[in-house]
Amino acid sequence: MLRTSLKITAALLVALTLAFTAQQEQKSPVPTELPKDWRDWTHIKTGVIYSEKHPLFEAFGGVHHIYANKIATEAYKKAHNEKAKKMFPDGSVIVFVLYEAKDEGGMFVAGNKKVVAIMVKDSKKYSATGGWGWQAWTPEGKPLVKDAEEQCFTCHKPMRENDYVFSDWLP
Ligand code: HEC
Repeated sequence: MLRTSLKITAALLVALTLAFTAQQEQKSPVPTELPKDWRDWTHIKTGVIYSEKHPLFEAFGGVHHIYANKIATEAYKKAHNEKAKKMFPDGSVIVFVLYEAKDEGGMFVAGNKKVVAIMVKDSKKYSATGGWGWQAWTPEGKPLVKDAEEQCFTCHKPMRENDYVFSDWLP
């Protein structure tokens, strides 16, 4: 009897430890795969953060492009056409790709890739982080997000009224 309950206690402890470790590794669920065809998606906008005048120079200095899948593109366009706030349905995926800015005799062009970041809308799965799943990868494919709230979501929060999305589509 005592042995059985000891065994149960031990099993419970193992389960709890595993759950705790898993939680420590990843505080909230995040996407694990970058869609293969993102480079063929709709280009939403491009930005060049080229000097320390910009508060994000340290982290995001370089040339970045934003791409959206079909569902997200429709939502961007709808907001633009109706002069309404942005609202993205589940299934929306947005990609932010950052390259080094290379000065080619007075023209800034994209150099080496620095990072690819992604937002995936699934209001149930990612409810803890605004309904969006957040992830970023190095050019070698190493995932970078351990704490989506702290590393990504916090900075996007001021855009709450626009479904946490900064960028706008222009015709
Ligand atoms: C310090 C603030 C900050 C942090 C931290 C941040 N972002 Fe962003 N993010 C921005 C800004 C500002 C833009 C808009 C850039 C533009 O309009 O060209 C943006 C744009 C994006 C976009 C394109 C959609 C949009 O909102 O315009 C994606 C996707 C994205 N970020 C993902 C991430 C991920 C994933 C992380 C965490 C690894 C992250 N971001 C961390 C500020 C931040």
